[in-house]
Amino acid sequence: QFEFSLRPQKLAQYIGQAQVKKNLSVFIEAARQRGECLDHVLLYGPPGLGKTTLAAVIANEMGVNFRMTSGPAIERPGDLAAILNGLEPGDVLFIDEIHRLPRAIEEVLYPAMEDFCLDIVVGKGPEARSIRLDLPPFTLIGATTRAGALSAPLRDRFGVLLRLEYYDQQALTEIVQRSATVFDVVIDQAAAEEIAMRSRGTPRIVNRLLKRVRDFAQVLGDGAITSELSHQALELLQVDVKGLDHIDRKLLESIIERFRGGPVGLDTISASIGEEALTIEDVYEPYLLQIGFIQRTPRGRIATPLAYEHFGYEIPE
Ligand code: ADE
Repeated sequence: QFEFSLRPQKLAQYIGQAQVKKNLSVFIEAARQRGECLDHVLLYGPPGLGKTTLAAVIANEMGVNFRMTSGPAIERPGDLAAILNGLEPGDVLFIDEIHRLPRAIEEVLYPAMEDFCLDIVVGKGPEARSIRLDLPPFTLIGATTRAGALSAPLRDRFGVLLRLEYYDQQALTEIVQRSATVFDVVIDQAAAEEIAMRSRGTPRIVNRLLKRVRDFAQVLGDGAITSELSHQALELLQVDVKGLDHIDRKLLESIIERFRGGPVGLDTISASIGEEALTIEDVYEPYLLQIGFIQRTPRGRIATPLAYEHFGYEIPE
């Protein structure tokens, strides 16, 4: 599941996110000098931008174990208690999709984060008593695509809040080149730039496209990724020049054709194209908002003239 080779191990190898890296390196260095563990960190931003990678890098920089779980994987308070109880001093516990942690389980986290202890209820009814277990000091790193979905008491217990942004063209090109080196494949500068351009500012997509283009280069060519080859492969993969795929297109064409450009509500769009509203909101919309193809208004989503232009529609009056 985890391709460590593609993922940087150290902050210095982590490409892009300059602001985040700069602040983080100070917090890491300060904690190390004091011989303490790093304060709890919340990483938020759209999917695929390297939240898990960054969490692993933090653990590595601190020289501690990296323990990974996710909000939906923790079903009962006891599951979380067991994980916390198994930590070694200083460990990083990474909880992906932390906004999906059930409320009753969140409450186990509060004393754990604040005082490094667990309050466990033993017995039932009038016999019930609470006992307090000490935990080793640890760093919780939570990741979420939606910081707003976190409850305020949980959000307030993170000392470091870091927002990951979409990557610019130059950073993505560097990631393509780095990944190509890991794969031991030769790639033209122009090919790397084209893959970067079509990757929606997202390293996960850059690496996925690179792998597929490599397949074409291997089977249709001599293995080297030339710019003609990558261009041809990207056309075959149906990723357009803005990096929009089949679902983005369906989404925008639905707003434009069926709802006259909007405004139209998220649930209506969801029903119209058969994608879950939450998936649209967390996965597809953020990039379309970022490139200015849709806007959110109080009455729903609207397609902008940029979107009309991109898909070759005449811009309405
Ligand atoms: N692979 C995925 N994300 C990366 C990043 N930000 N830097 C370097 N390699 C990566």
